[in-house]
Amino acid sequence: MAKYNDINMKLWHNYSDISTDSLWIIDKRDNSGIHSGHYHGNFIPQIPHQLFSRYTKKGDWILDPFMGSGTSLIEAINMERNSIGIELQKDVVQEVTNRLNNIEINNSKYLIFEGDSGSIDITQQIQNNINKVQFIIYHPPYWDIIKFSDNKQDLSNAVSLQDFLSKFSKVIDNTSKLLEKNRYCALVIGDKYANSQIVPLGFYCMNLFMEKNFLMKAIIVKNFDETKGKSGTKAIWRYRALASDFYIFKHEYIFVFKKLS
Ligand SMILES: C[S@@+](CC[C@H](N)C(=O)[O-])C[C@H]1O[C@@H](n2cnc3c(N)ncnc32)[C@H](O)[C@@H]1O
Repeated sequence: MAKYNDINMKLWHNYSDISTDSLWIIDKRDNSGIHSGHYHGNFIPQIPHQLFSRYTKKGDWILDPFMGSGTSLIEAINMERNSIGIELQKDVVQEVTNRLNNIEINNSKYLIFEGDSGSIDITQQIQNNINKVQFIIYHPPYWDIIKFSDNKQDLSNAVSLQDFLSKFSKVIDNTSKLLEKNRYCALVIGDKYANSQIVPLGFYCMNLFMEKNFLMKAIIVKNFDETKGKSGTKAIWRYRALASDFYIFKHEYIFVFKKLS
């Protein structure tokens, strides 16, 4: 058995639901239990589910520094992992807290902090509570594609690409010190299009981790179909793509890194 998951390799052929491929085509969102796709900019529960299956064990602590609607926390609870969410927006924190307060939780704990994931105060509080975490899942804003709030610390309000990368870099430095050595973290992110060119946010952010000496373990490409923002505008986007020189984004990235020191 690997030290970082609960997969019993003697029964390896029983895990057909756990992906080992670098291309994830997922048709339908898992809307079971209290999962809900209401939050603009959420990810599908299958992403944390797959990552937690491969990189965590029951009882491990998972940190999500960009909690949003709490998809990671709900999935951690479903899988008997403990979890910590950090989120800048007060009303979003309140909504997740209310939802989690209304379910019966037996074999896991969760903590939610309101604030900036780049702030040392928050990580200090986490350290005081539980010391180290065994996995981190980063799902930052894809820069300004969706504006989440008016808060200056919100990565979606970064004034330039450099500002976005420097804010995200600060979050990585601040939170990854909580990650146990030899354990994993994942980054879920997509690219953006501006001024008639692609801004490859995915690769810029991937580089941040590599510059910080994380070991690169996986580059997964995941499909997405229609985002809420583009809902009902399929035909016009196809027309624009055909008339111009671009392709419509249908994928995002999941990068997996291992912390060596
Ligand atoms: C892409 S969403 C995450 C969605 C989440 N995975 C879900 O399934 O709901 C990014 C979230 O990060 C929050 N955020 C942005 N900047 C932040 C910061 N500096 N610290 C904490 N949260 C931040 C935003 O308010 C937003 O809710």
